Amino acid sequence: MNKIKVAPSILSADFSCLDREIKKVEAAGADMLHIDIMDGHFVPNITIGPAVVKCIRRATRLLLDVHLMIEAPQKFIDAFVDAGSDMITVHIETIGEAKIRELKAKLKAKGVKLGVSLNPATPLDKIKGVLDAADFVLIMSVEPGFSGQKFIPGAITKIKELRSIYQGEIAVDGGINDLVAGELIRAGADILAAGSYIFGAKDAKDAIERIRDGAK
Ligand code: DX5
Ligand code: ZN
Repeated sequence: MNKIKVAPSILSADFSCLDREIKKVEAAGADMLHIDIMDGHFVPNITIGPAVVKCIRRATRLLLDVHLMIEAPQKFIDAFVDAGSDMITVHIETIGEAKIRELKAKLKAKGVKLGVSLNPATPLDKIKGVLDAADFVLIMSVEPGFSGQKFIPGAITKIKELRSIYQGEIAVDGGINDLVAGELIRAGADILAAGSYIFGAKDAKDAIERIRDGAK
């Protein structure tokens, strides 16, 4: 089994002291930083844009895992690449297969990884045609939009099915804590994004280790 990567989602951080929050999870052993971008259209919430990602880039050496929950993501790819993203995830509900292939070529040339995500209600069939272009797949285990929601167990079946047909990395996002991590890892997940469980913990290092050790 590969080493599980843990991606704290800054949506649950205290944005009034974001630099401190980021350095806290970096010191606590995070493998990457999960950054949720929301536009108020694809999801009923608004977060941050490329200007803030650029500032975050200066605050940490962690890989920046940028999760775009926005309509027409292709319009903003250059801005997020220039801001310093290392991984960019688009939702299959927001972009067609041809555009995903164009994106893949563009990101590959820049050394940025492409993730393709799907909502809990979107069947795996919708992404099967682009799996060869995806560096990783992000399975949503809550409805995108907010931190602190309850994990939707249907994600487990999806991970298992995807694992049987896909060799790339599988990331999971939403409602993840130490209790569900083990099942996700056994199902075949490689990257676990968690917001409220890590930023809400008294000890972020302990929280990250508990997620990573979920398999034990
Ligand atoms: C939800 C976001 C998630 C969220 C995770 O739309 O994509 O990354 O911040 O937060 P928790 O772990 O609290 O569900
Ligand atoms: Zn996310």
